[in-house]
Amino acid sequence: MASMEKYLDERDLARSLRDDVRAGLSGTPKTLPPKWFYDGRGSTLFEEITRLPEYYPTRTERAVLVEHAPEIARLAEAKTLVELGSGSSEKTRLLLDAMLERGTLGRFVPLDVSEPALVAAVAALTAAYPGLAISGVVGDYTRHLRHLPDGDHRMVAFLGGTIGNMVPGERAAFLTDLRSVLHEGEWLLLGADLVKDPAVLLPAYDDAAGVTAEFNRNVLRVINRALAADFTPGAFDHVAAWNPSHEWIEMRLRSLRPQRVHIRDLSLDLSFTEGEEIRTEISTKFRRVGLTAELESAGFAIRHWWTDPRSWFALTLAQAVHP
Ligand code: SAH
Ligand code: AVI
Repeated sequence: MASMEKYLDERDLARSLRDDVRAGLSGTPKTLPPKWFYDGRGSTLFEEITRLPEYYPTRTERAVLVEHAPEIARLAEAKTLVELGSGSSEKTRLLLDAMLERGTLGRFVPLDVSEPALVAAVAALTAAYPGLAISGVVGDYTRHLRHLPDGDHRMVAFLGGTIGNMVPGERAAFLTDLRSVLHEGEWLLLGADLVKDPAVLLPAYDDAAGVTAEFNRNVLRVINRALAADFTPGAFDHVAAWNPSHEWIEMRLRSLRPQRVHIRDLSLDLSFTEGEEIRTEISTKFRRVGLTAELESAGFAIRHWWTDPRSWFALTLAQAVHP
């Protein structure tokens, strides 16, 4: 039993990509929002990243879920599981299994901006969970939360540490928006990567096989295809750096030489000096006090905080409370 709702079509995507590219690449420093990594190829590259030896977040969060999914199912007693930025929803199967075992779950609603990733995930989940109602939503979690199915007893999962890909202002707006569509008592299950030694962090974002570098450069391929641009992806180096004052990893693309790029659909000519960078992603690493305060100021109370034995990754169960 599967259905698909679409709040983003090719035209919406092209329009918002145009706005983001014009705003992000016309100024200094140049930036691009990370959501544009995820066309079909980008989503596949991300799945490859999750299997890399250096990329600890996925397997660490999975281990926390293995240990606590039955407890989460018992505490939340949720009838609907919503997942934001769901991707392949692979780890989510642990939650689905525990919630079905508990006997409360009736519906799963994965939402993702990447239609190819969502279509593949819904097909795989429909085959694996024939009795479950699965309603895929192609949408942007910064714009389309209002379209999520209403109802009580919902739990919203936002896994993988994807919340860390937003800058603090975006995070606050997102959490406030999410709180506003939830009823008091409903749940947020949030995965957050934690601050740790940069010697562990940096290889996770600059792996030896070069998969993260290809993922990073993929944004240039997306822009080439969607906006008739002529970026040469190989003319940009992948850079991952730890920013100790913000406590986030920055991914950048560094121009290997002076070059010009034409974006035909924007009638935009860009010039890059040698070494000039585009910041393509931040990946924030959290501390418990800071994340607790952010959640509280958006109207969520943390009820549980689970981590792995090394305290590398946290899974937190928060409840929507009276503001
Ligand atoms: N939750 C999965 C996937 C994480 S990758 C995991 O833990 O492994 C991040 C996912 O968020 C991708 O599937 C990407 O397409 C999606 N995404 C990124 N920005 C988004 C946005 N603004 N709205 C909806 N989905 C988004
Ligand atoms: C989706 N997100 C949580 C990943 C991260 O770790 O910030 C995206 C990623 N970027 C590089 N590698 C993985």
